[in-house]
Amino acid sequence: MKYITVSAPGKLMLLGEHAVVYNHPCLVTAVGQRMRVTAAIDERSNFTLVAKNVGIHGHEKPMSDLGKGNVEKNVRFVEIAVKNFAEKFPFKEGVRIETTSEFSSHLGFGSSSAVTVCMIKALSELFSVKLENKEIFELAYKTVLDIQGKGSGFDIAAAIYGGTLYFVTGGKEIKQLAIKNLPMVVGYSRVKADTVVLINKVAEVSKKYPVVVDSMYRNIEKIVKLGAKALREKDWITFGQLMNMNQGFLESLGVSTWRLSSMIYAARDAEAYGAKLSGAGGGDCMIAFTSDEKKQGVIDAITRAGGEYIDVATNVEGVRIEI
Ligand code: PMV
Repeated sequence: MKYITVSAPGKLMLLGEHAVVYNHPCLVTAVGQRMRVTAAIDERSNFTLVAKNVGIHGHEKPMSDLGKGNVEKNVRFVEIAVKNFAEKFPFKEGVRIETTSEFSSHLGFGSSSAVTVCMIKALSELFSVKLENKEIFELAYKTVLDIQGKGSGFDIAAAIYGGTLYFVTGGKEIKQLAIKNLPMVVGYSRVKADTVVLINKVAEVSKKYPVVVDSMYRNIEKIVKLGAKALREKDWITFGQLMNMNQGFLESLGVSTWRLSSMIYAARDAEAYGAKLSGAGGGDCMIAFTSDEKKQGVIDAITRAGGEYIDVATNVEGVRIEI
């Protein structure tokens, strides 16, 4: 049987969340736990999914029924990715998919976007359709928008390109920053956040105070641009200050929480260069940049503030074929 295995990394937002939904840039890094998809051709023209880590042991339907009916949350991204690929590049066979993840979907590392990217890449290999990264991005981004209606696509870009990216809404600009390592510590707030709920919450604030929020977004854009320069120059002190400023705006937008802010202040008290929430807010993770010598103290402080330290590699490789 012809089959292929593909993997893609998760992501963490460094600077620019929320503003990036509205035509501003952000900085995102790919993190070193990966999603894996094995895809095989099924001569019976059926779509089958096994995703044991999210309790799917054999979801099966005819290819002609993809996207129809009430598609369960844990199946949705894979199923709609296959549907979108098959609509653009029709094939008569079915596919059998198995997914595994090195990271838990509750961390907010972007398992849905990583699995979507894996799917498009795997199908392009399986059916010998040559796709450039930008074409993978377009199909994967369409899949995410079909499902959740909102989002900048930064997580899709991180899963495809890897590394650390300067990214503008919808992939208008995707620039790889030539850096090796980020001195980053990650703390999980032990609360699962819902990105769409938080995007809607910010949209409400913006509707009520359009001028205020617009000027915040423009300031966040300046922070992102200075941040890209600081990263290139490995100027961690400046980058830390920019993180703190960005966090101030996220507080103002109302997406930080008591727990996230406690972890952030604890990291700053332990002399991190800077700290902020990462992603939509409302839960998920915070990040801190720290020197090697302060790192353990920062980790202990985050833990004492109720967070869970997550050890991840940053700036890792994007989507790839596994042997
Ligand atoms: O919650 P996360 O980690 O997927 O991050 C969301 C970041 C937003 O800017 C709020 C949304 C987006 O798609 O850019």
